[in-house]
Amino acid sequence: MVKIFASAAVTAFALVQSACAHMAVISPPPRSGIIGNELLKPCGGGNQVVDRNITTFAVDSTSNFVLRPSHGTGNLIFNYFTDLDVTNSSKAYPLDDVPISKPDTYTVPIDFAKAGLKDGQHIVVQAIYNGTDDGETEQYYVCFDVKLGEVESAGSDSENHSDSEDELDSVESTKSGSIKSASVSAKAVLGAAAGLAIAAFAF
Ligand SMILES: *[C@@H]1O[C@H](CO)[C@@H](O)[C@H](O)[C@H]1NC(C)=O
Ligand SMILES: *[C@@H]1O[C@H](CO)[C@@H](O)[C@H](O)[C@H]1NC(C)=O
Ligand SMILES: *[C@@H]1O[C@H](CO)[C@@H](O)[C@H](O)[C@H]1NC(C)=O
Ligand SMILES: *[C@@H]1O[C@H](CO)[C@@H](O)[C@H](O)[C@H]1NC(C)=O
Repeated sequence: MVKIFASAAVTAFALVQSACAHMAVISPPPRSGIIGNELLKPCGGGNQVVDRNITTFAVDSTSNFVLRPSHGTGNLIFNYFTDLDVTNSSKAYPLDDVPISKPDTYTVPIDFAKAGLKDGQHIVVQAIYNGTDDGETEQYYVCFDVKLGEVESAGSDSENHSDSEDELDSVESTKSGSIKSASVSAKAVLGAAAGLAIAAFAF
């Protein structure tokens, strides 16, 4: 019970804080220490592979990106890079471009298959909020590490790693291995704490 209250309080605090960002990231987790608050091109400062939160998305269904532009109006642009260390000369391939008619939480379903992407690919998804407020247009950047492939169902331990075990895969397996061993309530608290960390970076 205590754990549940603590988690709820942290989550509520995180939500209040994220409301103050130019663009808060609700999910998936962005590159570490990054929030779409940053004006810095191309990844809001998280250009290099340092420490990554890799999210696995299935290619054969749409994948939700939940972002909250908190002022102005404009559009939310999604691109992807195949370069994992993203620079200004990395080629950005378009994924989607959605209108933002008012500050709110937007859930954008991305269709990776439609973009020609395949199982086993590692990509960096970039979201740009091109927002106009008081006649001034600014761009806020954030990036996400994404792996395309089979999404593990919760609690399933029988996972097949069919793709080549490169360095990235081993980093990822280590992470998911440690996450799997955590209890459900610990996960909830961690999730809320992560939300708080994101919100804290929003300033
Ligand atoms: C992952 O994202 C959280 C926020 O959700 C952040 O605090 C953390 O530094 C990121 N990196 C890793 C490796 O978990
Ligand atoms: C990318 O270009 C912008 C200017 O368009 C610059 O402000 C930024 O520092 C550059 N980013 C990198 C990683 O060089
Ligand atoms: C950004 O917003 C401005 C103002 O609405 C618009 O003119 C411009 O075309 C937009 N840029 C992109 C890349 O969508
Ligand atoms: C793992 O892959 C093998 C061969 O492709 C298959 O027979 C087996 O059912 C798979 N196991 C799981 C848990 O998916």
